[in-house]
Amino acid sequence: MKQAAARAALEYVVEGGVIGVGTGSTARFFIEELSGMKGRIAGAVASSEDTRRRLQGHGIRVFELGEIADCPVYVDGADEITPKMHMIKGGGGALTREKIVAAVAGRFVCIVDGSKVVNYLGRFPLPVEIIPMARAHVARELAGLGGTPVLRAGFVTDNGNLILDVQGLRIFDPVELETRINQIAGVVTNGLFARRPADVCLVGTPDGTRAMTR
Ligand code: 5RP
Repeated sequence: MKQAAARAALEYVVEGGVIGVGTGSTARFFIEELSGMKGRIAGAVASSEDTRRRLQGHGIRVFELGEIADCPVYVDGADEITPKMHMIKGGGGALTREKIVAAVAGRFVCIVDGSKVVNYLGRFPLPVEIIPMARAHVARELAGLGGTPVLRAGFVTDNGNLILDVQGLRIFDPVELETRINQIAGVVTNGLFARRPADVCLVGTPDGTRAMTR
């Protein structure tokens, strides 16, 4: 189902453009699909070092964000997505670079299997990337918001930071909570993608792939 959603995303690839590419198992399927049309795109922007290596391994040119004039489309998976196209991302730990590429992209195409579609976010623990020295302070603040932060053991992000996975948050207003958590000193960003939601979500199901839009 992930592969079917990834294949369907090829329809949104803009020929001649630089394509933003996400991180995770669904994005990996997309990289394989994209390699089949690499001669028809200028190249890609990677949301993680893992994705960069995989793209280059398929002979796809990888640009730095500062090198390109625009990025017409960004294709990435999600850990949870609602019908309003708000998401939790960062299960793979690449949330900050993912959010940067999503901010630059003209269109965000989310690719998921049906299990990721939820009415309310929060069953999946919310990843928060933090500056290491702020760990105790941020953890206290997140507990004050009603969550239980757990340090992702043995994990360092591509940016040299740590991740707290926050369990038990009741996320009624994702836009407000995204903003609030990002204001805690020491937070780099959090895995709520609500201020910049997806534009299209391709959902792989046993009966085929369906598109949700805002
Ligand atoms: C990585 C992400 C991924 O998009 C998210 O974790 C979904 O992963 P998968 O496609 O493996 O289910 O945000 O940081």
